[in-house]
Amino acid sequence: MQPHQYNDEENKPIKVLMVCLGNICRSPAAQGVMQRLVDERNLTGLFYIDSAGTYGGHAGDLPDYRMRSHAAKRGYNLTHRARRVTSADFEEFDYIVAMDEGNRRTLMQMAATVEESRKIVMMGKYIRRFPHYDYVPDPYYEGAEGFELVLDLLEDACESLLDDILAKQ
Ligand code: 4NP
Repeated sequence: MQPHQYNDEENKPIKVLMVCLGNICRSPAAQGVMQRLVDERNLTGLFYIDSAGTYGGHAGDLPDYRMRSHAAKRGYNLTHRARRVTSADFEEFDYIVAMDEGNRRTLMQMAATVEESRKIVMMGKYIRRFPHYDYVPDPYYEGAEGFELVLDLLEDACESLLDDILAKQ
């Protein structure tokens, strides 16, 4: 393990929190996509990837069965249990990644300090192959295409996000 791959001198993992509204569709998928990328690049253990929602109504639930089913077709096994974002997350995580502008606004209101607010980034900023999207749209009331689009956007964006995080170390 190389020291430059850690986020500080204490050799703590780089902590990334994926955030959407319900934590049952987009953010657990983002967590699964990012975890696989990290594993593929032999960076397992150097990163801690988690997800949470700004709305807590689905707390304790597995990801939505539609998200699990579409993700499974691409080899992702999504087993996260939904939870709401907490103020402690802003201290614990290095990167807090919002799927859309509504999520970002809620997170900005929750941030207690400027330093905490600087941890918030938009997943959409890292989308490269889909120029018409600068956010990850909520698939909850959409059909199969909505879930496939979310996975396409996340597979694209997470590559660039991971590159960007590593470049900052
Ligand atoms: P997510 O999708 O934010 O991608 O997890 C949603 C899940 C649940 C609801 C909305 C969006 N809901 O209103 O219950």
